Amino acid sequence: GITRHYKFDIKLHNVTRLRNTKSIVSVNGQFPGPRIVAREGDQLLIKVVNHVSNNISIHWHGIRQLRSGWADGPAYVTQCPVQTGQSYVYNFTIVGQRGTLFWHAHISWLRATVYGPLVILPKRGVPYPFPKPYKEVPIIFGEWFNADPEAVISQALQTGGGPNVSDAYTINGLPGPLYNCSAKDTFKLKVKPGRTYLLRLINAALNDELFFSIANHTLTVVDVDAIYVKPFETETLLITPGQTTNVLLKTKPSYPSATFFMTARPYVTGQGTFDNSTVAGILEYESPSNSFHSSIKMLPLFKPILPALNDTSFATNFASKLRSLASAQYPANVPRKVDKHFFFTVGLGTSACQQNQTCQGPNGTKFAASVNNVSFTMPTTALLQSHFFGQSNGVYTPDFPINPIIPFNYTGTPPNNTMVSNGTKVVVLPFNTSVELIMQDTSILGAESHPLHLHGFNFFVVGQGFGNFDPNKDPANFNLVDPIERNTVGVPSGGWVAIRFLADNPGVWFMHCHLEVHTSWGLKMAWIVLDGKLPNQKLLPPPADLPKC
Ligand code: C2O
Repeated sequence: GITRHYKFDIKLHNVTRLRNTKSIVSVNGQFPGPRIVAREGDQLLIKVVNHVSNNISIHWHGIRQLRSGWADGPAYVTQCPVQTGQSYVYNFTIVGQRGTLFWHAHISWLRATVYGPLVILPKRGVPYPFPKPYKEVPIIFGEWFNADPEAVISQALQTGGGPNVSDAYTINGLPGPLYNCSAKDTFKLKVKPGRTYLLRLINAALNDELFFSIANHTLTVVDVDAIYVKPFETETLLITPGQTTNVLLKTKPSYPSATFFMTARPYVTGQGTFDNSTVAGILEYESPSNSFHSSIKMLPLFKPILPALNDTSFATNFASKLRSLASAQYPANVPRKVDKHFFFTVGLGTSACQQNQTCQGPNGTKFAASVNNVSFTMPTTALLQSHFFGQSNGVYTPDFPINPIIPFNYTGTPPNNTMVSNGTKVVVLPFNTSVELIMQDTSILGAESHPLHLHGFNFFVVGQGFGNFDPNKDPANFNLVDPIERNTVGVPSGGWVAIRFLADNPGVWFMHCHLEVHTSWGLKMAWIVLDGKLPNQKLLPPPADLPKC
């Protein structure tokens, strides 16, 4: 591989959407931010310089960061944030990954505007396991807030309620013609007939899983979270925040006199308010003559039909189609034996309301979210530093509750006490522990799907189901042959998911719901993976420019 250099100047930039002009935090004055392109095996040196008053840190979402946890990016987990006027060089090498990922700010809600695609091409001379596309196009979904997202989140934190709802969804930063006065802000994909395009879809939205479809076209899924999958055809996709999906789009062979909408709108399982609007982009066949363009408005415009907002059976069916390629060249290395079994409940609970506040949770409480009933408190210094220098005192405790709390019927009557406890608690794993983790949606305050994201690893989704996980029955049906391998999985609403991974990456690794409002309410925790014995099984030393708190 080669070394590629990028510079990210974090600065303010004026953007107008939905008739609102706002000064947003941006990278290099671009929205969405610049595209990073590298090949498997390349080293990336990305210098982030902070010219704004906010603290910043950037996460390379889905990059494994083997032994290079210092470059992972979540603020107060692997690094202190880059302060105003400071800079930090993220230094990492892409090992064994190729596909689409993305990067985003990983502090507060700054990722609302600070995000962009990260494209990993295969090593030079190594083909895709599917026909070579004529063109590759990143399509990144986001959410636009007319208000300042930082103000939105501080309100959600204080009151434990809304509004934390965006004003539009966007495709490559553009809301599209279904929003008022936004027709000029529409993503247009010009295509030639009879060609194959690779669309690199990324859900960078803050709080919503999205359905996506292109009218009158079938999509072939070939890759998720930078892992090749057994190709399958679908009209509609479901993509949670934190997930990426590569699809092949075959354009029609003969020249059609039409334009086609591509649309996305949310899949919603919870009870709260949400943005139920629809973003649209346009698929436009290139004209053989100019007459096409002059008559474009007269042409039929096809719109896709998306599933109902709460179509859980679509979600279940779609998840069941995702299988690893599991070929000789791209094997699925599913851990066969398990060293440690974990059972985590994930879901919403409540916490006490501070005085002089009007809280929006049940019975005058505010909403909180937890893993095994612990709502994670962010430390004021970085966990990775504390771990590396042996200074955990007062920063974190290694007593994350790992034994299944009381065998509770998560689909039954909610308990009287829904209060969560607080703490900065972690699980410590010896190097190379093979882990099985069941994540169970508690449904205590209503069933809701949670896209759980693990830093530092890909994991295999060996099973999932509805209701309560049954340790006596369900493991018999686990798929250990070709389960999907990924970094973000939707824990089904009112159900559970089982994942396996090998803890072969020393460091401190964040795990959290990728719905930003749930992360903020505490649905997050961290794993510490200890060094192995061999020199190449140890976390690298911290870089000299690692930011200080
Ligand atoms: Cu994409 Cu910890 O996040």
